[in-house]
Order: sequence, then C-alpha cells, then structure tokens
Amino acid sequence: MRMKKVFLVFIAFAVVTPLAAQDHDEANYDEAKVPAYTLPDVLKTGTNKQVSNKGVWEKSRRGEILTLFENNVYGQMPKAYDRISYAVTHEEAAAMNGRARLKQVVISVFKGDSSVKINLVLFVPASVKKPVPVFLLINNRGRENTDPTRAAKSEFWPAEMAIDSGYAIAAFHVSDLAPDDKTQFVNGVLRLYPEQLLMANGMRAIGAWAWGASRVMDYFEKDRDIDAKKVVVVGHSRGGKASLWAAAEDTRFAMCVSNCSGNTGAALARRQFGERIRRINTTFPHWFTDNYKKFNDREDSLPVDQHMLISLIAPRPVYATNATKDLWADPKGTYLSLKNAEKVYALYGLSSRLSPDPPPVEKPLLEPPLGYHIREGEHNLTAYDWTQFIIFANHYFTSRK
Ligand code: GCU
Repeated sequence: MRMKKVFLVFIAFAVVTPLAAQDHDEANYDEAKVPAYTLPDVLKTGTNKQVSNKGVWEKSRRGEILTLFENNVYGQMPKAYDRISYAVTHEEAAAMNGRARLKQVVISVFKGDSSVKINLVLFVPASVKKPVPVFLLINNRGRENTDPTRAAKSEFWPAEMAIDSGYAIAAFHVSDLAPDDKTQFVNGVLRLYPEQLLMANGMRAIGAWAWGASRVMDYFEKDRDIDAKKVVVVGHSRGGKASLWAAAEDTRFAMCVSNCSGNTGAALARRQFGERIRRINTTFPHWFTDNYKKFNDREDSLPVDQHMLISLIAPRPVYATNATKDLWADPKGTYLSLKNAEKVYALYGLSSRLSPDPPPVEKPLLEPPLGYHIREGEHNLTAYDWTQFIIFANHYFTSRK
C-alpha cells in the first residue's frame, strides 16, 4: 500500500514537472566546465577589415552584423504595411488618485486583407506639462500585470513607481503580436507577412514581439504627451530577448533594458552555461528562425554571439540584469556580453567602466552607457529591478537635457 502511494506520488511529480524544469538540472552550472571559446570579433568586417572608427562601423560593420542576426537568429523584420491607425478607446484624466492620466490605445496595422491590433496601456504623469520619457514593457506574462484599473498592482510593471519618478509607463501584451505557442504564434503579425513562414530566415515569435514594440514607437511619435526621443524598451526573460532585438532593429529606441534574458538574449551562447541553443530551439521552436536550429550543439559555429547584439544598440545605453537563483540565464555570460560590447561604445567616445568581473550581488552599475546588476532571488522582474532602471535612465536623460 505504502509503496503504491510513493509510486503514485512519483508519477504525479513526473507529470506535473515541466520538461524544461527537468532539463535545467542537466545543464552545466559549473564554471570550470565552461569550454574555451573565442568570440567573433565585433570590430572585424566579413572581409577582414579592422573597424577603427564609428563611420566605418556604421557604414560597413553594423549592417553586416544585423543581417547575420536576421538570417541566423531572429529572422527578417518586415517594415512595409498599408496603413496604421491609433484609437484612444479609454481615457481617464485622474487615474491613480489624480497622479496620472490613463490612455488605452488600440494600434491597428493593416496589410492586404489582414490586420493586427495592439492594445496599449499608457499612464502619463498628471503633473508634467511637457512631453515625458516613457518605459515601454513588452509583457510576456499575464495581462493582469499591467492592469489599467490599478485594482491589481504588480511589481512586474510598477506603474506608480514610474509615474512618481516623472516617467510615463506603457505596456502591450506579446499575444497581440504572436501568441506564445508553437502552433498559435502564426495568428498575429505573421498573418500580414505569411511569406515569412516559408523562409528559413523568416520572422518568428520573438521577432513579432519586437515588431510590435516598433509599432508602439510609431504611436509614441504621434502622442504629444510622450517624448519619442526618450523611449526605453523593457523586457523580462523572453520579453528581454525581444527588447534587445527591438532596440537593435529600431534605432528610435533611446535605451534598452533586458531583464534576466539569458540564452539568445543578453547571455553569451559560447559559454554553454545554463540554457543552450538546442534546448531553447526544442522547447520553443516558434521563437527563432529555422536556420537557428543549425546551431544546436554548435554554438561555436554561430557567426555571431550576443555581445554583438548589444553592440548593435550602441551608442544607446543598455541595462541588463540577472538574479542569483537564475543560473539558467547565465549571469556571468550576460555581464561578459556587455563587457565585450564596450569596444563598440568606445568608437563613439563612450567609455563604460565595467570591471573584468561582474559586480557583487545588489551592487548595481548604474552609469550609462552599459549598466548591470545581479539581484538576490529568483527569475523575475521586481521593484528592485525597476528602481535601478529608473536611476540608470535618470543618469542618461539628465545628462542629455
Ligand atoms: C524559459 C526559457 C528561457 C526564457 C524563460 C522566460 O526558462 O528557457 O529562455 O527566458 O523561459 O521567458 O521566463
């Protein structure tokens, strides 16, 4: 009887434990087992020319790297559509007890017979009379995290904190662009661009979410409450992979925050620490291009690594984070991505003072252009994280007034 019970408990555990969680245990978490690796040289062109100034970077190398990421990792970023419209569907002049104005906006994008609707929630500080900077979250968790009524408040999107710091704060949900599901992801932006699905370097879900951030940017350029030159795109985890890709593809974003983004986000692939390319392609086959599958177990043959993604955002600031209990997202590999992107910022005369090793826990590096912290705790986006994003953004925007 007892044996039977133990067995049943075991079966129940095996069934309810998600596959990815089991795989976490098989991943390498031992620094001593990180293989020797050589990162692709971000400052050497495909024809082996050394890039020594920002002119050559912008003219020759940047585009080359962007194309490598499009073709091998995130897919094409289709730019053409027939029409875009913005409808403010709900407005409140005195939200948050009078501290903010709420706008709910539906952004509709039309192409051929298809259209996609992005539902934007936006709070603007009530006290400010001129256009304000804004944090835009790519929300990959439940919609209740960005509750416009504020009946539910979540650290994932602490709207009050942003408002009280003089920022507007906005969010849209990834499922408006591509439901996060390997069969359903086609039901969004990809209806406008069905040809992408036939291409081995076609757009997939992460690309679709980044595309959505750019359509919100289109809207911000029309909203007089927003300073469209000061838009910070923020994402957590899979959303943090998308925020990096959005900022790489769309130079209108002034700053990028990538929280616990890990593999194919801010962390170096070649370290093979925590999540690896095979795992991410297997569990989430709808996130990246078909071409990316060629790099399963072959991180070393990728023509890029993630420091080059950060480099594409230069000279605009990037802030990345990790959490102590989230080794799956390779904290050290994330920091090293930033570190290895420094030389591109240097072409713009921007010196970041990153030491060779990551900073201690909860000792954030808050000086633009490259910022970082590792927080105590689990894989999550918390008030602690947002507090640092705001300080980092304050430093940057006040220096540019
Ligand atoms: C999984 C996945 C990660 C991803 C994370 C998340 O753990 O393996 O790559 O970042 O989910 O989005 O929370």
